[in-house]
Amino acid sequence: MSFSLESIGMEPGARYESIYTTMNSEGEINAAPMGVKCINDYDVAARIFDGSKTLENIMHTNLFVVNITENPKIYADALYGNLENLKLVKDDDIAYLKDADAYFICLVKSIEELTAEKDHVNEGSKSYIVTAENIKININRKGAKALNRGIYSFLESLIDYTRVDMIDDDKREEYKNRFLENERVIERVAEKDVKQSMAELRQKMIEKGLDL
Ligand SMILES: Cc1cc2nc3c(=O)[nH]c(=O)nc-3n(C[C@H](O)[C@H](O)[C@H](O)COP(=O)(O)O)c2cc1C
Repeated sequence: MSFSLESIGMEPGARYESIYTTMNSEGEINAAPMGVKCINDYDVAARIFDGSKTLENIMHTNLFVVNITENPKIYADALYGNLENLKLVKDDDIAYLKDADAYFICLVKSIEELTAEKDHVNEGSKSYIVTAENIKININRKGAKALNRGIYSFLESLIDYTRVDMIDDDKREEYKNRFLENERVIERVAEKDVKQSMAELRQKMIEKGLDL
């Protein structure tokens, strides 16, 4: 049995999407979609905005569980607060999603307030960086892999590449902006091979006359 985050396809430096399950002081379970950055094979970091129940619970218990899933309905139900639709399991002082492909338990190492000067979401908004150590990984489905959205942004740009010769000037502006946005997402979240492929695609787009 591996306890390394590599066993669920997590690469240092990349950010993944997941569902965090936490508990409050009354033992009530909460579930919310959250990103998780892989620092190394055992450590992770999260950036959580102030006001989140997840953050409050983590500050109180120093524990959280990262659930790995690609099921869109689970993300939506967790975000909309339809927790009754999720199969939440309580196990002592943690909770997890029964239907997760994998989950890992995180023990908090530090929580620090971040005052971002420049933030693509909300300049000056208050958020916290939580660092934590993964203390146990449970794999429910062979081949489970943490969800990284970098590949989807890359594929969107790759599809645009096949159409860039067919479009008028207005559309070119639209394609340019979409490329830049996909590139921003990839720089922030993607794995190394996707970043490399996107850098090559940038050159190909320029060769096709996209003014990047
Ligand atoms: C895919 C996805 C990823 C998200 N990642 C984060 C994140 O990394 N940090 C954060 O503060 N909010 C993130 N959010 C937004 C939170 O899920 C949202 O604010 C939620 O309402 C928080 O719920 P809570 O109050 O139960 O913690 C994400 C949402 C989605 C859909």
